[in-house]
Amino acid sequence: MKRVITYGTFDLLHYGHINLLKRAKSLGDYLIVVISTDEFNWVEKQKKCYFSYEQRKSLVEAIRYVDLVIPETTWEQKKTDMHEYHIDTFVMGNDWKGKFDFLRDEGVEVVYLDRTPEISTSQIKYDLKK
Ligand code: CTP
Repeated sequence: MKRVITYGTFDLLHYGHINLLKRAKSLGDYLIVVISTDEFNWVEKQKKCYFSYEQRKSLVEAIRYVDLVIPETTWEQKKTDMHEYHIDTFVMGNDWKGKFDFLRDEGVEVVYLDRTPEISTSQIKYDLKK
């Protein structure tokens, strides 16, 4: 069984997220989504989420392509997650291109997928404010 993992915030779930998860799942048989906790988002990314971690987790768990959701609490956990969850393929959108190539040293395939154009959580927030 081929195991795929991806990381993100997934606030205000939108079709760009769904497209990413659909394509990530198509690269294997079992998809793990690692969602940033509220604290990690605030302390490390200076981003405040609209939905809490528990709400974002419930939404992402309801997506048919997703098999397991776990929390992201540190930048460093990626390395250990690869072994703990027996990952074959690490996937991210290409806004992160090149940033996680070092995970190849852990024996995983690293894939960057094209982002869906013209949609993002930030864009939704911005458009609603106009
Ligand atoms: N993603 C994507 N296409 C989009 C938006 C996001 O493929 N249009 C991907 C990202 O590349 C990432 C995952 O979805 O791999 C989770 O992204 P996240 O940062 O949670 O979503 P964004 O909409 O990009 O949020 P923000 O605007 O806050 O950065």
